[in-house]
Amino acid sequence: MNGTETLAASVHVQTFGCQMNEYDAELVRTLLRKRGYAITSDPEGARVLLINTCAVRESAHTRIYPRLHSLVNQKREDPELVVGVLGCMAQNLKEEILLDFPAVDFVCGPDGYRSLPDLIERARVARERGTAVELSEYETYEDIVPTRVEGVNAWIAVMRGCDNFCTFCVVPYTRGRERSRDPEGIVAESQALAATGHVQVTLLGQNVNSYRFGPTDFAGLMERVAGVEGIARVRFTSPHPKDFPDSLLRVIAEHPRICSHIHLPLQAGSNRILHRMNRRYTREEYLKLLDRIRTLVPGVSLTTDIICGFPGESGDDYQETVDTVQRARYDSAYIFKYSERKGTVALKLWRDDVSDEEKSERVTRLVGIQKEISLEKNQERIGRLESVLVEGTSKKDPSEWKARNDSNIIVVFADPTAAVGSFRRVRIVDASAHTLRGEIV
Ligand code: 5AD
Ligand code: SF4
Repeated sequence: MNGTETLAASVHVQTFGCQMNEYDAELVRTLLRKRGYAITSDPEGARVLLINTCAVRESAHTRIYPRLHSLVNQKREDPELVVGVLGCMAQNLKEEILLDFPAVDFVCGPDGYRSLPDLIERARVARERGTAVELSEYETYEDIVPTRVEGVNAWIAVMRGCDNFCTFCVVPYTRGRERSRDPEGIVAESQALAATGHVQVTLLGQNVNSYRFGPTDFAGLMERVAGVEGIARVRFTSPHPKDFPDSLLRVIAEHPRICSHIHLPLQAGSNRILHRMNRRYTREEYLKLLDRIRTLVPGVSLTTDIICGFPGESGDDYQETVDTVQRARYDSAYIFKYSERKGTVALKLWRDDVSDEEKSERVTRLVGIQKEISLEKNQERIGRLESVLVEGTSKKDPSEWKARNDSNIIVVFADPTAAVGSFRRVRIVDASAHTLRGEIV
């Protein structure tokens, strides 16, 4: 092996999927940089291509497969190129990926990133294929400071894994058991972020209200992060409705830097389906929790995730989801078609018996219903004064800014004096289902 060659090797990481994956890509960049690799944002020039994958829904696989197929040609022209598949799909499919995609040199799951330098070297030097797919009960990458991408927001993973085992979900199998990070490390990371100009942090976990480290629970952690000088906004995602403590609601209500937005996945509105999903709450309990949230945190914005067409979902079950959405009056919702995932209880126990066509119809109808609610709720904001954080320029009209209000809704406005990372007070003058328009006051 030639040492200088190792130093010169450039790595490109392409990420699919959720914010946790974005964060993991930042960890991987640091890990590899420490071992002498150069990180490049240009996939063309890179000697090592890492594809950081998602497995949560079939639609994620559908986006990733063509990318992996496309690498066959690239590798034919450039046989020295090293290709690794990282993340949840790697963990879920393991060696299957090596069999199905000849261009791939190695697969590496979310707890295996410390093995990456080794996997890359074995591929480069010995042309050996490999896997690192052991899950760990302890790995939190505590000592690795992520290499951040520029922007106003930074993600911080505060816990990894999930112990809830919702029957549709692959995450407990791809990300393993729950483990929380030391709050001291999280606070130090927040301080470092404030020093480099990040004004917002978003605390990430598959199930943040299970966070616990010694005496510190998630409410305590949020309070500590919100106390860091220079961090103007703290967000978090996602809590589970089954164990939402009042203490967390009080911290959100009382702390001006903690945004009044809660993403609270409903998944389904039929008790029969919720039970099958192993969600451990009823629709009545969920709606009661929403009331409690709205009482303790007045003006809070609420968003959700919903799955249509889970096995056994009848027309009546679906209608109960529709009713629940109409009652809940979310600010917005992500609505998905159910897809079978390898390793899950739902795949083992039930047939995927709602046709694809029916699933699509259910999704489309619910999206339409939610869109009307979102529009009405956004229209209620017209005339209000809101503080918005500028994230960048508007895609439609680059002379305007794209910002977000406390509720995480996009607000577009014009102001020659504003800049990325600055706060402005705007009056809301117009609203669509997805965006608000503001005028500087
Ligand atoms: N099919 C469809 N949607 C799913 N989700 C998770 N697993 C599946 C699946 N098998 C959705 C849930 C979750 C979101 C991140 O993805 O709504 O909250
Ligand atoms: Fe998946 Fe349920 Fe865990 Fe969320 S709480 S990651 S849906 S198992």
